[in-house]
Amino acid sequence: MLKLFPSTAKINKGRLTIGGCDTVALVKEYGTPLYVFDEAALRGRCSEYRRAFQKRYPDSSISYACKAYINKALAELFNEEGLSLDAVSAGEIAIAKETGFPMRRVYFNGNNKSRAELEEAVAWGVKYIIVDNFQELAVLSDVAKAARVQQEVLLRLSPGIDPHTHAYLTTGNVDSKFGFLMSQAGDAVTKTMASKWLNLAGLHFHIGSQLFDLKPYIKSIKVVVDFAAAMKRDNGFEMRMLVTGGGLGIAYLSNDEPPSVDDFAETITSNVIKRCKADKLDLPHLVVEPGRSIVGRAGVALYTVGAIKDIEGVRKYVLVDGGMSDNIRPSLYGAKYEAMIANKADESDKAKTETVTIGGKYCESGDILIKDIDMPKIEPGDIIAVPCCGAYCLSMASNYNASLKPPIVLVRDGKARLIRRRETYKDLTKCDMT
Ligand code: LLP
Repeated sequence: MLKLFPSTAKINKGRLTIGGCDTVALVKEYGTPLYVFDEAALRGRCSEYRRAFQKRYPDSSISYACKAYINKALAELFNEEGLSLDAVSAGEIAIAKETGFPMRRVYFNGNNKSRAELEEAVAWGVKYIIVDNFQELAVLSDVAKAARVQQEVLLRLSPGIDPHTHAYLTTGNVDSKFGFLMSQAGDAVTKTMASKWLNLAGLHFHIGSQLFDLKPYIKSIKVVVDFAAAMKRDNGFEMRMLVTGGGLGIAYLSNDEPPSVDDFAETITSNVIKRCKADKLDLPHLVVEPGRSIVGRAGVALYTVGAIKDIEGVRKYVLVDGGMSDNIRPSLYGAKYEAMIANKADESDKAKTETVTIGGKYCESGDILIKDIDMPKIEPGDIIAVPCCGAYCLSMASNYNASLKPPIVLVRDGKARLIRRRETYKDLTKCDMT
């Protein structure tokens, strides 16, 4: 099961280490719940993506989907790695901006951006705004005019393809709140090209998340590139850029086998090249927007076991000091995870002596992290390590039950750097007015 952890993860004298740091020592210093991000895994994934695309399609870029998780240290890291950012709110852009992230490498997505957010994005010099609908098109044209800015835009299309994933993670089918339907897309192109203040740079689609099947990308590329060719013929539209979204799945369980970044890159690039050639289009600048597949495996959540409730013949609950406030994915999607006892890591890999259910501490029956998992004997005080917690855990975290959001340490070569402190009680009331 070590393979679900970052590749620097090792077992040393029965303890789990990540990035050369002993997780038990990290817990002693920072407490639990604690999120550990492995710097080598993060940077490794960035360069794996960069290389996989560059060698097949030199005019391409990787735009990290901030919604998976962003904070200041990660924004700096992605900047150093030469990635762009796909933001889905002015808030995400503001985090990046605070670190001096170049706004020329920011893409602004979102299905219901407010006028205020659009004004901010234009004022901040966000290079690409990905327009989702007609209302936004009209508002943005107005905002750009008022600011006297020629704004680069892309249109988000919903190619009508079923990506075969959890219904909540599907975004590009016909019954979706995201993007222009293909039946509206021609009108959207004409309206954008008619605006004096908007420059139509290209097209965007994103079909879903946690995908193991790459075929829906092939179909979507065909739909969108063929559409671009029709628009060229009818309206003189030049597709200078094409964004094919994110969505590559990762292994959460030992027997999951997602495609590799190379498989993903090969499918996207070869099909874009093939379709553009068939449709006699120049190759556009190609952008992909991975989130989960960059940060997912780099993050590990650590919890301390408190109460253990053995309900004879029914279930044995092992309760930890976190749960749905830091990782809502099991409750929201039925997402499955594996776990290891960080302070008995030797045993975790061998003797699985009991079946337990790992629950959180929140006042909600659905606050279960892992249902029915075989583990070595667990005792109060043990540290549970859950792999694959880098994506969509902390970005979806809440203060439910007035809990304090956990800290994050970035580990590398035996050194740990706190990149987010634990919240305090003061943080809980800092926005309150009496
Ligand atoms: N681009 C767009 C326009 C997106 O909507 C998304 C994710 C991505 C890129 C990145 O997709 P990724 O590479 O991370 O699959 N909260 C859910 C996932 C929601 C994904 C939403 N959109 C989860 O915890 O599984």
